[in-house]
Amino acid sequence: MSDYNQDAITKDVLAAFASTPDPRLRELMTALARHIHAFAREVDLRPDEWLAGLKFLEATGQISTDKRPEFILLSDTLGLSMMVVALAQARASGQVKGAIEATEATVEGPFYWPGAPELPLGSDIGEGVPGEPAFYMGRVTDLDGAPLAGALLDVWSGDGDGKYDVQLSATPTMRARGRFRTDAQGRYWFWSIRPTYYPVPDDGPVGDMLRATGRSIYRPGHIHMQISAPGHVTLTTHLFVAGSPYLEQDAVFGKRDSLVVDFEQHPPGKAVDGREMQAPYYSASYDFRLAPAAAS
Ligand code: BEZ
Ligand code: FE
Repeated sequence: MSDYNQDAITKDVLAAFASTPDPRLRELMTALARHIHAFAREVDLRPDEWLAGLKFLEATGQISTDKRPEFILLSDTLGLSMMVVALAQARASGQVKGAIEATEATVEGPFYWPGAPELPLGSDIGEGVPGEPAFYMGRVTDLDGAPLAGALLDVWSGDGDGKYDVQLSATPTMRARGRFRTDAQGRYWFWSIRPTYYPVPDDGPVGDMLRATGRSIYRPGHIHMQISAPGHVTLTTHLFVAGSPYLEQDAVFGKRDSLVVDFEQHPPGKAVDGREMQAPYYSASYDFRLAPAAAS
């Protein structure tokens, strides 16, 4: 060990990681040590600030459960989740010519619940869910626009009050979730509600951080979709409601212009799928383009 001046500390820590057998782990740990030391030097980190940071991480761990993943929320609100999503898309576009043309991905968020029921096309996952009815339709294609038959759309949404099922009770039942398979022409259609903006869970340390820094705690209205098809890169994305408040202040930096969709308002009457609507409703149309999986 060298004498403990600032530069020597960093050098010693990097040397301690230098013989990590796994080269990728070595790269990750040495870069982390380098950047974290540079951060401490840049801000001249004080002991009480360092301790407050550790207490913050401790509280983040203490509030976390599988239904309340506060560390994911921390990553989301620091923009790190979106950075990882953007890097993955850039990597895919380097591996597959034209993959940059695929529909843009965005954050998964903490409310995905695997195992939603697989439902016939045209089903209504918004039954009994507060909110205004909305009809969703479109196609899933490859990058050349060829339909992907049998693609699986896993859909989840908050309700018209901005609440997800998992936030409603300690033992929630699924609501506003469903899985749909595209037909032979790659088409999908289903009913749900038009989602509204909502606050990210803000009663924990991440909420405290957002308030202390004067940041928005809100996400603009959106519906989540995870779309998969054999031989293609699985896409995790949202459709955002055009005109929703907070489109420009998404607390997790997930909004992409290419994912903002007009929700057209219709008077009561026969909807496009023949359903008789007693109240006004909305429709939203969007085609998803999946990149081919890179050859291994
Ligand atoms: C969501 O869209 O469900 C979400 C994403 C990130 C943080 C909180 C919520
Ligand atoms: Fe969401």
